Amino acid sequence: MKNIVVFASGSGSNFQAIIDSIGKGEIEAQISGLIASRPGIGAIERAISHNIPHYILPDKSSEATFSEVLLSKLKEWNPNLIVLAGFLKKIPSEVIEQYRNKIINIHPSLLPKFGGKGYYGIKVHRAVVDAGETESGCTVHFVNEHYDKGDIIKQTKVVVSDDDTPETLAQKILKEEHKLLPNVIAEILNNN
Ligand code: GRF
Repeated sequence: MKNIVVFASGSGSNFQAIIDSIGKGEIEAQISGLIASRPGIGAIERAISHNIPHYILPDKSSEATFSEVLLSKLKEWNPNLIVLAGFLKKIPSEVIEQYRNKIINIHPSLLPKFGGKGYYGIKVHRAVVDAGETESGCTVHFVNEHYDKGDIIKQTKVVVSDDDTPETLAQKILKEEHKLLPNVIAEILNNN
């Protein structure tokens, strides 16, 4: 059985989409653990209700400690694929080195547009609306040492309508994220 480890910082609706897709037999794998960046986030509730082990990162850990704890958890959970599903901390370079081409991220824009430092959450959609873009979307890409700069795997486009606000655009794109992310995970894991 292949293992997926998910990293999350928020409500975890993308994490849920992966759980559901495994439940439907679309992804042939199990989620061996969830790394949560802080206590109290929705993703942890979802892990508990689906009997998925979780680990909450220690507060204000130094880069060295952060990478040590991550590497030891990852060793235990032995992932074939690591999925960043709304994870807001930077992944230490030691972790990227050890799991090169095995870490993917979902970003709510058509990268390389509206990516990089500072582009997260509603800020991404606000920038898209302010720039008067007519289309946006979501991107799944490999993670390397630079924020949102790894090779793009797949994207879904959505139309930005004249009456879209950052909030309505976020909702539209999130719906597409929930399809794109499980789809890419299945493609990577079911074919290797
Ligand atoms: C998503 O929009 C994802 O693209 C971004 O963070 C958000 C996470 O949402 N990286 P959720 O926690 O999966 O609901």
